[in-house]
Amino acid sequence: MTRRFVAGDTMSEALEVVRTLNRQGLWAAIDFLGESVFERETAQAHMNEYLRLLEAIAREGLQADISLKPTALGLDIDFEFCYENLHTIAARAHQYGIRVEIDMESHPYVDPTLALYRRLREAGFDVLVALQAYLYRTEQDIRDLMPLAPRIRLVKGAYDEPPSVAFPAKADVDANFVRLMRLMFSPEAREQGVYPAIASHDEKMIAATLDEVRAQGIPADAFEFQMIYGIRTKRQLELAEQGYRMRVYVPYGTHWYPYFMRRLAERPANVIFLLKNIVRG
Ligand code: FDA
Repeated sequence: MTRRFVAGDTMSEALEVVRTLNRQGLWAAIDFLGESVFERETAQAHMNEYLRLLEAIAREGLQADISLKPTALGLDIDFEFCYENLHTIAARAHQYGIRVEIDMESHPYVDPTLALYRRLREAGFDVLVALQAYLYRTEQDIRDLMPLAPRIRLVKGAYDEPPSVAFPAKADVDANFVRLMRLMFSPEAREQGVYPAIASHDEKMIAATLDEVRAQGIPADAFEFQMIYGIRTKRQLELAEQGYRMRVYVPYGTHWYPYFMRRLAERPANVIFLLKNIVRG
């Protein structure tokens, strides 16, 4: 069941998946699974894995970003320590011409993650940050980031957040996603160089995005769609065949538990499928 959402335990398994995706015209963002790291050695080991991953992507000329979580690189230990680890990765990625993507974790991490992002952008690195449509604050965050010509991955949000910070109703999250998508395609955002990555499997979000870009005549290379490995594979291929940039988020590694549980929680059918398999033995 984990294999449905995780490319494998090892880097070589992830690279094999990415080779196949690239052959199909799909781009990738490779994530070495990990989060909530509280030991410096573990965070440094995590950084070293990303450095090896960058080398492999460059060696093979794969069309792939790397995607990482600040808490895997020591954000819970010390902000500066985390920044140094991220800076080392971003500098190496820059040498190879590979882009770094920063995942957004639960709401207490938003401010420090945006501070990390800001520093990396100001240091001249081509970095993307994920922002979550379920948070009330995200519209302001997009506006504040605009002068940095940011690449932004818009997602609905995957953590269990309190109503004090996030829309509790799915309909409100969806409506906000569409509003924020339109903000990222607004003339103001485009003038400032915002590059939107629309990351959703929801056909309503995809259709609204297609309507928006068609209405405004936005070229297909001015934005991208993103989806997760193992989810709506057919739709990923269709969008790529229609000429859109389609990037697939490919996680690998042995620390798959929290990632896997978030994917299960997103869709009750996944839990039922898992339970049936357990019962069947
Ligand atoms: P929604 O949950 O409404 O699902 C719409 C439809 O998509 C479902 O009806 C189903 O058909 C299909 N679907 C969705 N999830 C599925 C699943 N797990 N299994 C099977 N089918 C499924 N979140 C975050 O907080 N921080 C981050 O950095 C990221 N990063 C990220 C990168 C990428 C590339 C993607 C696509 C998503 C994320 N997310 C994320 C996760 C995101 O916040 C959200 O939880 C999921 O994408 C599910 O929301 P959807 O927009 O897909 O819609």
